[in-house]
Amino acid sequence: LETKATEELAVCSDENSLKAWNTKYFGDRGEIPAALKLVGTLPPAERKGYGQEANRVKVALSTAYESAFGKAKEAALLASLNENPLDITLPGRSPAKGGLHVATRVMREIYSIFSDMGFQIFRSREVEDDQTNFELLNMPAHHPARDMWDTFHTKTPGVLLRTHTSPGQIHVMKEFCPQPIRAVLPGFCYRYEAITPRSEIQFEQVEGLVVGPNVTMTDLKGTITTFARRLFGEERQIRIRSSYFPFTEPSIEVDIDWPKEDPNADRLTKGTGWLEIMGAGMIHPTVLRNGGYDPDQVSGFAFGLGPQRITMLKYGIDDIRQFWANDLRFLEQF
Ligand code: PHE
Repeated sequence: LETKATEELAVCSDENSLKAWNTKYFGDRGEIPAALKLVGTLPPAERKGYGQEANRVKVALSTAYESAFGKAKEAALLASLNENPLDITLPGRSPAKGGLHVATRVMREIYSIFSDMGFQIFRSREVEDDQTNFELLNMPAHHPARDMWDTFHTKTPGVLLRTHTSPGQIHVMKEFCPQPIRAVLPGFCYRYEAITPRSEIQFEQVEGLVVGPNVTMTDLKGTITTFARRLFGEERQIRIRSSYFPFTEPSIEVDIDWPKEDPNADRLTKGTGWLEIMGAGMIHPTVLRNGGYDPDQVSGFAFGLGPQRITMLKYGIDDIRQFWANDLRFLEQF
């Protein structure tokens, strides 16, 4: 039995034939159990010798089977690896991670500062009408101040690309009147200007708008100071200069001081130590009225800041055209 079984085992070439062999010899009706049962039929004197021999054969065959089965399994694995040479032990390739555009990052930082101060964030349209972009902001047709904003007009008379986010003031006031307002309106603006390292035809602005009883210039100053210190550091000083916008009265321009240690300080501040970050002022009574409010009951302030400007300061970027050039070498630095 042992010789026959061993010979048969040797020619089993795969797992299936090995299993068949196992059933034939070790299965319930296999030859080994049958041989073991014979012990009972033998004369007592032969039983011990027979039993020992049968057990030895059983152990030897089952050991031989285990080792043959192990080898067949390994061979099958090897064959499948050769057939399909995929090395699952190699470390995976990590997918390239996208990043947020530097402009988006700074915008989000600005939103979070203003929302901490209780401002809501609004969107307003980029394609505007002349009325909202100019007239309702206290600039009737032919008003000379319109020259401050070189405008992209569309072929439809009276429809243009907004030159600033200030028309959003009108939309928000009309929607919220007579409630008090504390809102920021971020978004793109367009100006028909020569493209230079300092100015693009498209850029972002963040408009701020506060309307309510007893809103004063002090509130404006406090808001701007808090904003500048959160964004640029606690030690930051602001400076306010008198200015002119048709939709605010009085109008101001706000500068922040720039550390002299910055190698770019002189270039940025032109030696004055101060850098302009926004236009602002108390909302003109005519504009409040155009938004539906009674200037005798409420007052308000507004500001318009340029996030690209701020980002250029923060990161030492010297060419505004980089923002929209889609150059990965630039974008991946942030
Ligand atoms: N809209 C002005 C500009 O584009 C900025 C501004 C906003 C000034 C709000 C005053 C109040 O230059």
